[in-house]
Amino acid sequence: MGRMFNFCLVAVLLVGVYGDESSTSSVAPPPTNETPPTTTTTSTSTTDSTTSTSSTTSAPTTSTSTTPATSTTTIPASTTSSPVTTPAPVNDDQFYRVTEDNVTCIMFSGDVKFTVTYPQAGGKVNTTTVKVPKANDKTRPATSSGSCNGSEQYLLVEWGATNKNSNFRLTFNSTGLKWELVHTEANIYMDEATFVNASDIGQELTVMGEFPGLSYVAVDTNSSLTCRALTESSNFTGQVLNSSSKFVVAASAVGVEMQAYNSVPNTTNLQQGSRCEMDITSDLVPIAVGCALAGLVLLVLISYLVGRRRRSAAYQSV
Ligand SMILES: *[C@@H]1O[C@H](CO)[C@@H](O)[C@H](O)[C@H]1NC(C)=O
Ligand SMILES: *[C@@H]1O[C@H](CO)[C@@H](O)[C@H](O)[C@H]1NC(C)=O
Ligand SMILES: *[C@@H]1O[C@H](CO)[C@@H](O)[C@H](O)[C@H]1NC(C)=O
Ligand SMILES: *[C@@H]1O[C@H](CO)[C@@H](O)[C@H](O)[C@H]1NC(C)=O
Ligand SMILES: *[C@@H]1O[C@H](CO)[C@@H](O)[C@H](O)[C@H]1NC(C)=O
Ligand SMILES: *[C@@H]1O[C@H](CO)[C@@H](O)[C@H](O)[C@H]1NC(C)=O
Ligand SMILES: *[C@@H]1O[C@H](CO)[C@@H](O)[C@H](O)[C@H]1NC(C)=O
Ligand SMILES: *[C@@H]1O[C@H](CO)[C@@H](O)[C@H](O)[C@H]1NC(C)=O
Ligand SMILES: *[C@@H]1O[C@H](CO)[C@@H](O)[C@H](O)[C@H]1NC(C)=O
Repeated sequence: MGRMFNFCLVAVLLVGVYGDESSTSSVAPPPTNETPPTTTTTSTSTTDSTTSTSSTTSAPTTSTSTTPATSTTTIPASTTSSPVTTPAPVNDDQFYRVTEDNVTCIMFSGDVKFTVTYPQAGGKVNTTTVKVPKANDKTRPATSSGSCNGSEQYLLVEWGATNKNSNFRLTFNSTGLKWELVHTEANIYMDEATFVNASDIGQELTVMGEFPGLSYVAVDTNSSLTCRALTESSNFTGQVLNSSSKFVVAASAVGVEMQAYNSVPNTTNLQQGSRCEMDITSDLVPIAVGCALAGLVLLVLISYLVGRRRRSAAYQSV
């Protein structure tokens, strides 16, 4: 199985290398001696057009040429024109940061939300959604704080009106060489607008739990953990102090980028790091499809070669 996989990888790599070679050879002016001289004139005109004019002039010339590989020459032409655009100013930071002594130990970004089923005054239940505001959310401003203290680093995000505010807290732990997310908690103020006719209106709902793929995942120190994919848990606990109300809480997070226990000073960007399992498996799917296709092509090729050899053998015997 392992050998098969290696072979498959090699096959996929070969396909990739071949693809690269075909694209570069189409850009290079000297053609092979098999091609007629009419195609050489069109290829030199496209290389000239990349320096002076836009890709619109090269597009009709590629349509007249018979080889499909020349269509890839339009792609490098468009990429050479792209660096002209200036990068947008980074006024709105997407990250929550905890910084002490010029060391940003914690960075966090992602869409986190809680879906809460709560009991109402009339004995019924209703479901509502509470979103943790993102760092650059202008409509729902939040403040953040935290600690870079060795034994327990945390990030605390707070939003809402005074005395009616909610918060979200991530707690991290470290073994020195690795760090991990050990606790996720939110204290949600149950306002009338969000928790319609809730029996515990005006109280604070505390939810806590674990995110699969993020919680208790050991990550190297000075590196990050990212998770593009959706991670969710249907069994967060929900509790209001001194209340017997039963809450059902589901939590989800998507597009998470985080790091804690970073000790590299003066960094503004996320460190390189690990990806969650869901992201890795989702990236394996196209590779598997590529492998299957490569295998199919190989099978057809082998059967063709075998068939031809048999036929020529039969021809020689006659
Ligand atoms: C942090 O950086 C500021 C300048 O941005 C500098 O004045 C200060 O000394 C630094 N603090 C430490 C602990 O490195
Ligand atoms: C349930 O909650 C939604 C808002 O989350 C609200 O619009 C709706 O009126 C509520 N239904 C009842 C029966 O309270
Ligand atoms: C960090 O821990 C030390 C003791 O180890 C304590 O004195 C200090 O208050 C803590 N700082 C924060 C921000 O929690
Ligand atoms: C944090 O790590 C320390 C040392 O590895 C361990 O003793 C402690 O139980 C951990 N705390 C949590 C909340 O996991
Ligand atoms: C909330 O409860 C009151 C009385 O219990 C009722 O009149 C009202 O219709 C309820 N509102 C909703 C949105 O269910
Ligand atoms: C919640 O789900 C996780 C993973 O599915 C499981 O390990 C844990 O025991 C569950 N907790 C409860 C309270 O059901
Ligand atoms: C909860 O009940 C305890 C005693 O049972 C009391 O001391 C505490 O103040 C109550 N808390 C709230 C928020 O009502
Ligand atoms: C993390 O980075 C700091 C500063 O560059 C360095 O001193 C420390 O040894 C690094 N830790 C690990 C575990 O690599
Ligand atoms: C970090 O930056 C501050 C100010 O820009 C500087 O004083 C400090 O020496 C720097 N620290 C390191 C380790 O580069």
